[in-house]
Amino acid sequence: MPSNPTSFIIAIDGPAAAGKGTLSRRVADAYGFHHLDTGLTYRAAAKALLDAGLPLDDPATAEKMAHDVELDGLDRDVLSKHEIGEAASKIAVMPGVRRALVEAQRRFSGKQPGVVLDGRDIGTVVCPDAPVKLYVTASPEVRARRRFEEIRGKGTTADFDAIFEDVKRRDERDMGRTDSPLKPAEDAHLLDTSEMSIEAAFQAAKSIIDLALSRHT
Ligand code: DC
Repeated sequence: MPSNPTSFIIAIDGPAAAGKGTLSRRVADAYGFHHLDTGLTYRAAAKALLDAGLPLDDPATAEKMAHDVELDGLDRDVLSKHEIGEAASKIAVMPGVRRALVEAQRRFSGKQPGVVLDGRDIGTVVCPDAPVKLYVTASPEVRARRRFEEIRGKGTTADFDAIFEDVKRRDERDMGRTDSPLKPAEDAHLLDTSEMSIEAAFQAAKSIIDLALSRHT
């Protein structure tokens, strides 16, 4: 493993809109760890292609953009746009793109005193030796409902059925790809947040992390 053996790694994976972003930020804040939302790295590469008017189906060009992604300059507000997420999930199936971004993510994982990385393949591929692996999930209906409420909360109109279809399509693409499909690592703790508040999810995560930290040398 290229990561520094003394940095403490918390790997958080799960499907879109399961609450892993909120949980990851909360965990990173509570422990004073660095946080990387790895979805933003795929989004940044996709945005670079869109901005340059380049095709999304050319692996060599997409890989070049992935190599140029700077982890320091990832702007969540800019990158959270729906069309960037769609484009990201298309280039995320390309092995060259994944190789480039995984390399950058592994470099990040060595930061002291610890890191929280969230994504789809952190526990399975990026940091398979992480002492804490969480797989955060919720039913597609609940995830679509949360996204629906979030959009409406911003004063924008939203169509629940369209969002629900979108969540299911994104799951299919993320779970069905050949390279690094979304799935829980064998040693991941499953956190189903369908019926759980963010506070309850945080407390569950905290118990798991505290135990692993007490064993960490
Ligand atoms: O979590 P997100 O919506 O920001 O992710 C955008 C896309 O990037 C998503 O469709 C899957 C992909 N992704 C991935 O393949 N591996 C990761 N570690 C993170 C995201």
